Amino acid sequence: MRLLVTGGAGFIGSHLVRRLIQSGSHSVVNLDALKYSGNLENLADLAGHPQYAFVHADIGDQPVVHTILQEHRIEGIINCAAETHVDRSILDPGAFARTDVVGTGILLEEARRAGVRRFLQVSTDEVYGSVEQGSSTENDRLEPRSPYSASKAGGDLLVLSYWTTYQFPVLVTRGSNTYGPNQYPEKFIPLFATNAIDGEPLPLYGDGKQCRDWLSVHDHVAGIQHVFEQGQLGTVYNVGGGNERENITVAEQIVGTLGKSRSLIRLVQDRPGHDRRYSIDCSRLRALGWSPQVPFEEGLKETVEWYRTHESWWRTIKSGEFKAYYQQQYAKRLQQGTACGS
Ligand code: DAU
Repeated sequence: MRLLVTGGAGFIGSHLVRRLIQSGSHSVVNLDALKYSGNLENLADLAGHPQYAFVHADIGDQPVVHTILQEHRIEGIINCAAETHVDRSILDPGAFARTDVVGTGILLEEARRAGVRRFLQVSTDEVYGSVEQGSSTENDRLEPRSPYSASKAGGDLLVLSYWTTYQFPVLVTRGSNTYGPNQYPEKFIPLFATNAIDGEPLPLYGDGKQCRDWLSVHDHVAGIQHVFEQGQLGTVYNVGGGNERENITVAEQIVGTLGKSRSLIRLVQDRPGHDRRYSIDCSRLRALGWSPQVPFEEGLKETVEWYRTHESWWRTIKSGEFKAYYQQQYAKRLQQGTACGS
């Protein structure tokens, strides 16, 4: 198929583009706005590949999206373009509504008008909200609690409405916490790994006992491709790693892998509205033939090792826009934080 992958210069998007091309069954046009976390270096190995093209554009730019769909005769779309960081959504919620709801709506409508044959929306398990007990199934009520998850839920519902209203062929995946190489270091695992490499404190929110289900990016993009190719239209699929861990445990594993001291971990003021636990039931996707392959402890070690051996990749990021963000997000918190265990 001739595919358009949006947000293909980002973390999950870049791994997905590479996988789709390597599978040999698709050509890919990567449309990315190259905002702060988009990075073409993530796909440097594909430059000049005959099945790959890059277009610098925003999913919310209707005339440009219209032209690209026509010019490249796009048959399928996977929408990875999104604002994705919860902490930033607390600082600037409008950006999330603009891209994750309005941008998704513009892309979707252009896709419908162009007669695209399959549209997959990459979403998140955060739309179910905090799950105190059990695991969320795809039929559960959506109870998003941050501007980020509320915007993603809005995008999901818009996409699903196109199936009900127009029988437009859509699919939705809801992935759990994803980790791996090339993740922008604002997220928990790369932030803690890179800070630990530099001997800087690791700002652990609240009591550090929040629980996340960790999913290797390799398993995540395999799940997305599986759903795209074999999923039932109009259906949502949860994609989770089955690796529920408390944040404190993961922080300790990161410092342990790097041979650093546990005293780097600082308990700091919590994230407002911090969801305690996410947990998803992935039986629907497993029944379709997908299952995660990367054991968490192995994947985490490999990821930490990747950051250790790719310093130039993240040091460039951390010396730019990131510095001001880090200052705003963490300076006061770290001043007031306490050593873990004290
Ligand atoms: O569940 C899927 C979601 O996972 C994705 O949809 C989001 O795009 C992705 O960012 C992630 O959301 P989280 O908010 O769970 O991820 P984050 O890496 O920001 O945080 C993971 C956990 O670590 C969370 O409980 C907050 C905590 N944390 C995070 C940061 C950045 C800290 O304790 N300290 C930190 O500095």
